[in-house]
Amino acid sequence: MFARAAVRALNSQPRLFSTTAARNTKVVVLGAGGGIGQPLSLLLKTDPLVTSLNLYDIRGAPGVAADVSHIDTPSEVQGFAADKLDEALDGVEVVVIPAGVPRKPGMTRDDLFNTNASIVRDLASAVGRVAPTAHILVISNPVNSTVPIVASTLAKAGVYNPARVFGVTTLDVVRAARFTAGLAGVHPNDTPVPVIGGHSGTTIVPLLSQSAHGKGIKGELYDKLIYRIQFGGDEVVQAKDGAGSATLSMAYAGATFANALFRGLNGEKGVVTPTFVESPLYKDQGIDFFSSNVELGVNGVEKIHPLGPLSAEEEKLLAACLPELKKNIERGRAFVESS
Ligand code: 2OP
Repeated sequence: MFARAAVRALNSQPRLFSTTAARNTKVVVLGAGGGIGQPLSLLLKTDPLVTSLNLYDIRGAPGVAADVSHIDTPSEVQGFAADKLDEALDGVEVVVIPAGVPRKPGMTRDDLFNTNASIVRDLASAVGRVAPTAHILVISNPVNSTVPIVASTLAKAGVYNPARVFGVTTLDVVRAARFTAGLAGVHPNDTPVPVIGGHSGTTIVPLLSQSAHGKGIKGELYDKLIYRIQFGGDEVVQAKDGAGSATLSMAYAGATFANALFRGLNGEKGVVTPTFVESPLYKDQGIDFFSSNVELGVNGVEKIHPLGPLSAEEEKLLAACLPELKKNIERGRAFVESS
């Protein structure tokens, strides 16, 4: 069903699913009954590196589990009802969190803060208690704030390891490749575009100057492409007309990032992809989390790569990103401090 790509090197477009060897990975999806959770659970069931898949939600997870468990891949699937969170987390190595509510037309990801912040905090606190060494992949929006919420919650419990908490920004990378490929008339596999910063609007900073097919795009075409990558999520929210935001492409992106992490945990070298992690890059400006190319390995985050040369336009995009990102991060931190 899926093409098995070769080992991907630095700056290549991540693919679903590339693998070199089988390994035991026990994974749980928190929010498996939702719009992202269901297709994500399906994709994880088909990932050859997953051996055990636990599906948890406040409603619907046992049904989703029964359904995907019939798929003829070797992994074992178990569903967990609302009161079985601790059981769902028992012994897991990777936790994927798509739980929460999606956007409606006119809303920004930040508008979801009030609802999703406490959902994510409570889930992170359970992970800290039951599976304190697990790697946590945060999909729930606003990612720029929910990742600091997870980090601060784990820190409060004394179990935070910055190498194991990731904000999934892969959908921005996927969109950047797809949209740039469309303009350049080439295959998206040949159009990797590093995307840095955060995961909302102007905090999303695509580095077209570092893309073989993107660097030739200039002027009005460039402006439109950048806008489309930054606000691509809004296209889906508007088209769904009140029924939510991106679920299928988000699930694809989540499963793609999860597979990259599994390969890193498996000891594969050269697995590099952008993700929103605790980062030294802008700490001197009070910005503790930032997305850039990160090498994934047996410990999770192995190495945070520098940004590389930026064009004058990209410097401007970055200047617009940083203050907004700082606010989003501080909002997440303050929420945990006051709870
Ligand atoms: C998006 O980028 C849902 O945040 C997700 O569309």
